[in-house]
Amino acid sequence: MTAPILRRLDDLRATTAPWQRAGTRIGVVPTMGALHDGHLSLVAAAKAACEHVVVTIFVNPKQFNNAKDLENYPRTEESDARKLARFDVDALWVPDGDQMYPESFATNVSVAGLTDVMEGAHRPGHFDGVATVVAKLFTQTSATDAFFGEKDFQQLLVVRRMAADLDLPVTVHGCPTIRDIDGLALSSRNLLLSDRARTVAPRLHEEMQEIAEGLKGDRPFTSLQTAAITRLEKAGFTSVDYLDLRRQSDLSPAVDTRAPARLFAAATLAGVRLIDNMSI
Ligand code: PAJ
Repeated sequence: MTAPILRRLDDLRATTAPWQRAGTRIGVVPTMGALHDGHLSLVAAAKAACEHVVVTIFVNPKQFNNAKDLENYPRTEESDARKLARFDVDALWVPDGDQMYPESFATNVSVAGLTDVMEGAHRPGHFDGVATVVAKLFTQTSATDAFFGEKDFQQLLVVRRMAADLDLPVTVHGCPTIRDIDGLALSSRNLLLSDRARTVAPRLHEEMQEIAEGLKGDRPFTSLQTAAITRLEKAGFTSVDYLDLRRQSDLSPAVDTRAPARLFAAATLAGVRLIDNMSI
């Protein structure tokens, strides 16, 4: 069944109020649209855990630090709604811009510490934009549960911290990264890759696996890291922003790899910035 598309806060509140009164679980899946199987895996997880599910689609201008990136971001609302039809979700929250950020809007939600590194360091203001919009999406939808992908692992930790610090009564669930058959993590930005660049893109994950193998063989991380960066640049990646080994709990450098660690990468290929991470 096609879910109703709600664009005004009054309509969303009228929809969720009876669910809230009945004390049912309301699952929210925040997205910026251009839905792929990674997003849909979150929807499936939400459907399995909650009586009611709201999928949100909002290309959030506050989290883009680059005007061109915002302009180029794919917008595919009709096909997104079609993809969601088989999941029988209860509502699509696709707020009009003024519903999210009216002219008088003046509040910023900022999470310290976790946002100093990686995406936070390379995309100034990005996580303030994410934390602000996600806090609003949680309260707007009256969510009890929210579903995020490990694909954006740093974002998942930032959202968990924000929800805990603001006492938002929302359980934040992390869901595994869904990949294409060749290992490339699914991403809305993959749509922006040329055919040629798409054949090179899986190298990012291949090099990360290579590092994981090397670490298993007790090879030092820094030499594995340097070799992988050289190979990525040779393959056509124009800049590798980071290829870091960090603790899963707080994203501090993982000098002691016996603590649960993850390998994180961000690199640009033919003008498209790709990110990925994996557990080590
Ligand atoms: P977006 O990039 O559309 O991603 C929406 C959700 O889908 C995020 O939780 C993201 O981690 C998850 N996701 C993306 N690719 C995935 C994959 N291959 N496997 C599993 N999950 C995947 O992330 C955002 O939007 C925005 O920052 C948002 C949280 C909506 C705030 O604006």
